[in-house]
Amino acid sequence: MPASSPVRINLGHLRHMKAEGRKFAMLTAYDYPTATAAQAAGVHSLLIGDSMGTVILGHPSTRPVPLTLMITLGEAVRRGAPNVYLVGDMPYEAMVSDETAISAARRFRDEAGCDAVKFEAAAEHDRLVAKLAQAGLETIVHLGLRPQSVSSADGYRAQARDEASIKTVVSDACRMVAAGAHMLLLEAVPNEASQAVVAAVDVPVIGCGAGPACDGHVVVTQDLLGIGATPTPRFVPVFAQLGRAMEDAMRCWVQSSGDGSYPAPEHLYHVRKQPAARPTASS
Ligand code: KIV
Repeated sequence: MPASSPVRINLGHLRHMKAEGRKFAMLTAYDYPTATAAQAAGVHSLLIGDSMGTVILGHPSTRPVPLTLMITLGEAVRRGAPNVYLVGDMPYEAMVSDETAISAARRFRDEAGCDAVKFEAAAEHDRLVAKLAQAGLETIVHLGLRPQSVSSADGYRAQARDEASIKTVVSDACRMVAAGAHMLLLEAVPNEASQAVVAAVDVPVIGCGAGPACDGHVVVTQDLLGIGATPTPRFVPVFAQLGRAMEDAMRCWVQSSGDGSYPAPEHLYHVRKQPAARPTASS
């Protein structure tokens, strides 16, 4: 049973885990109770993911997520998990220019208490990585499948499945690390691609459906817990069926409200008994 960390986890701790061959566990979180449970369970890192666009807000893509909402929810996540390595995910709207991205990264750090920001990188983003590093901000560069670039549901496909595209991912990874990226995240690539990246760089590599070669793994919490309407990717182990449990509990609520078994005596407030008035001399 992993213990929750008594100290705030930082990049040094994650590098140390990598050096010792210990894998770290990351999950997404968008609210206080989920963050509290994750830290208590020993999760090392939480991502305020823009996946909230699909799993929480019900949009067909991650693009419409407002930065301000992510900051507000990020503050709640930090309150619930003060000791995790907290990562803010740059929403699409923050990536229109280097300036908007740097300002969003500062907000994640200063307002939501994030330790790092992650963003979905195009080849030319090494310049932004360097600027963020110069501004003293820790960055995680997201390569492989990048959901913000996907325009339809059937666009969510594994990447880097041949030698040429593995070479491209490795060369992008090396360029981002040379520019100052502190970690990498690979989404939906075969283990061969992750192995090649891990061998080519010295920073921790997080996998999201990227095979055992990665130094840590992340999945969307709602997928792991079996909550929600979005299709679960094949790489997610579904460890609970909380969506079904929620629906069952809500069905019981509908039934007990309707059949009068709710409210039962233990749910009722009672009028306080007034002490009986004492007779006065004049009465
Ligand atoms: O937004 C997100 O949740 C993500 C991960 C699943 C990697 O980017």
